Amino acid sequence: MDEHLSVGPVGSTFFGQTLEQHLLHMQRQQAGATGDFTGLFHQIALAAKIIASQVSKAGLANILGLTGDVNVQGEEVMKLDVFANTTLVRCVQQGGHVCVMGSEEVAEPIPVPPQFPKGKYVLQFDPLDGSGNIDINASIGTIFSVHRRKTAGNGPGTLEDCLQPGRDIVAAGYVIYGSSNMFVYSAGQGVHGFTFDPAIGEFFLSHENLRIPKRGDTYSVNEGNYHKWSDGVRAWVDWIKKDEPSRSAYRLRYIGAMVADFHRTLLRGGIFAYPSDRKNASGKLRLLYEASPLAFVCEHAGGAASDGQQRIVDILPTALHQRTPLYIGSPDDVADALRFVG
Ligand code: AHG
Ligand code: MN
Ligand code: MN
Repeated sequence: MDEHLSVGPVGSTFFGQTLEQHLLHMQRQQAGATGDFTGLFHQIALAAKIIASQVSKAGLANILGLTGDVNVQGEEVMKLDVFANTTLVRCVQQGGHVCVMGSEEVAEPIPVPPQFPKGKYVLQFDPLDGSGNIDINASIGTIFSVHRRKTAGNGPGTLEDCLQPGRDIVAAGYVIYGSSNMFVYSAGQGVHGFTFDPAIGEFFLSHENLRIPKRGDTYSVNEGNYHKWSDGVRAWVDWIKKDEPSRSAYRLRYIGAMVADFHRTLLRGGIFAYPSDRKNASGKLRLLYEASPLAFVCEHAGGAASDGQQRIVDILPTALHQRTPLYIGSPDDVADALRFVG
């Protein structure tokens, strides 16, 4: 980052680098960049601002509660899930940067309407992650990934464009709607975090080149599933919560919104896991728009992400809504988990 862009008066973000300035700066360093990618990110950031604004006034807007619908995962959909999904689709589809989208809230790939041009990218997202937290005013988020289209031509994209492994991601990230709103992303050149200044309406660079600690001291897992886990997963959790000669017992932290649990893990170190269990052979989390994007971000911050057998980013997807077990976080903590469950 340019030195002169990063320095602002104390207490002000006004002379800090905005997300857009940062993307333009990165674009200028990329030979042959067309601005398409920057344009797509602009649409995603716009959607994030609209969602953030709606999330922050959820109670006021009387938007709390359930729509009564059931999504493709068989879960009740909350009103803000639908709002966030619609916002992302509407903001992105008219930009001309994507050929198809994939969303947790929609059973099939989402086509770009005929009146809009089709672009070279594929956007997949969990529009609102941790939606069970809306009614209790705890952190929630949006997760997204961007791939290049695989199918030839300029026509509509297909399911094939969506079913790409995490290692082929061009950029991925998340937005967390918490005590402050943050936009965190990687396009393969470091992981960068931007904090939203509501007075100005912009995301400002606040966490440049984030690196996850090599090891942490917290574990994050739904231990209510203990009796459904395999012996290996139980043995790992039994071990991590015990004092050992070389370390104290790990602390348990579990918000129940993956974005929030991952964000803490990224900043502080440690591990977040959602293992498979006797009822759910592939765990709970979705590969394409939950595990894969965060695995990409985590690896680019120096961390690791595995399903217990292989890197998350190496899994070849076969279905839009497929699930995967997940162990993600500090490299040493993930390696420890894999000694038990791998
Ligand atoms: P979503 O709200 O998008 O359906 O995702 C919820 C996910 C994830 O955010 C979280 O880590 C996990 O569900 C929590 O599951 P448990 O309640 O089973 O612990
Ligand atoms: Mn989710
Ligand atoms: Mn969701």
